[in-house]
Amino acid sequence: MSAIARLADLALPLLRRLPPETAHRLTLRALRSGLAPQRPQPDPPELAITLWGRRFPNPIGLAAGFDKNAEVANAMLRLGFGFVECGTLTPRPQPGNPRPRLFRLEEDAAVINRLGFNNDGLAVGAARLAQRQRCHGIVGANIGKNRDTADDVADYVRGVTALAPLADYLVVNVSSPNTPGLRELQRKSAVTALIERLQAARASVAPEHPPPLLLKIAPDLTAEERGDLAQAALATGIDGLVIANTTVARPASLRSRHAHEPGGLSGKPLFAPSTALTAEMYRLTQGRLPIIGVGGVASGEDAYAKIRAGASLVQLYTALVYHGLGLVARIKRELQALLARDGFASPAAAVGAAVQVPRAPAHGR
Ligand SMILES: Cc1cc2nc3c(=O)[nH]c(=O)nc-3n(C[C@H](O)[C@H](O)[C@H](O)COP(=O)(O)O)c2cc1C
Repeated sequence: MSAIARLADLALPLLRRLPPETAHRLTLRALRSGLAPQRPQPDPPELAITLWGRRFPNPIGLAAGFDKNAEVANAMLRLGFGFVECGTLTPRPQPGNPRPRLFRLEEDAAVINRLGFNNDGLAVGAARLAQRQRCHGIVGANIGKNRDTADDVADYVRGVTALAPLADYLVVNVSSPNTPGLRELQRKSAVTALIERLQAARASVAPEHPPPLLLKIAPDLTAEERGDLAQAALATGIDGLVIANTTVARPASLRSRHAHEPGGLSGKPLFAPSTALTAEMYRLTQGRLPIIGVGGVASGEDAYAKIRAGASLVQLYTALVYHGLGLVARIKRELQALLARDGFASPAAAVGAAVQVPRAPAHGR
């Protein structure tokens, strides 16, 4: 771990005594003002993975929501993340829901948020992405719709139009629980129409180098919805899935006094359901779609479980609140040891190792 990340981790107990949004604001400010090291520590080649023609130096990424406004992507890359996802950005800036809207569930190693896409809007986000030097690594952008929009699909088209030329990949967020009606867009006919419109928009603004387009889904889908989504994903030829967003479920095991705050639950209680969903979607799509596995990752073992369940890349957010920025280096070290222990030469070799993918029936024999 770099000395600076160690220093940041020493400040963690102090930050945890502040209201969560204040702590987050201070963390972003420290990152903007040069907390991160000037250069990343190089990753061992055994952790690299190539996807969509891009080389990720390691498979551990920062999940959407930490850097909603694309302010600290380079700093987070220098701290050791293999890639960073900015956003969610909506076409117009919006303030989000009234405070308090972010809660630490300390006893459960979890967070509940009902931020409601508070963000500076596409124009500001795009300007920041345009300013950053691309050579620093892989930065994706996550797009959403304004709460009060008259045309949902048009909002996503604006997101793709503004960000396709600037982002290394795009994520269509139809799974946040904090924007009324948003998750309805996951229904088969709606999602199919949406993806097709966005693929067309992408082709018109970035015909030479179209960034991969991924869909981020909720962990609260019914079996029928999961099957429908897998079919829609394969039929449209979307480039990948991000599994999963926060959950509206409240497991009976939660002990924190904030357990029943409305909003999306993330962190440790989300690990098992989001990993099971990753495995199911990997199986339903016959391992043909790259998956970014996210939900409750706090160790190398957790990241390894996501990969074995079918994730080619892994992301995290909530565990940073409890373990600090030094966690990234630890996860990479642990993951490397686990891959070596089991004889996998790379993360790619372990993708889906724990999932039985049914073979497609042989035709014409
Ligand atoms: C405070 C907070 C804000 C978030 N904001 C977004 C967001 O804007 N867009 C999005 O797609 N996901 C958002 N997420 C969800 C995360 O990207 C991730 O899917 C989820 O938290 C599960 O990962 P974790 O358990 O490692 O946090 C947010 C999560 C948290 C905790």
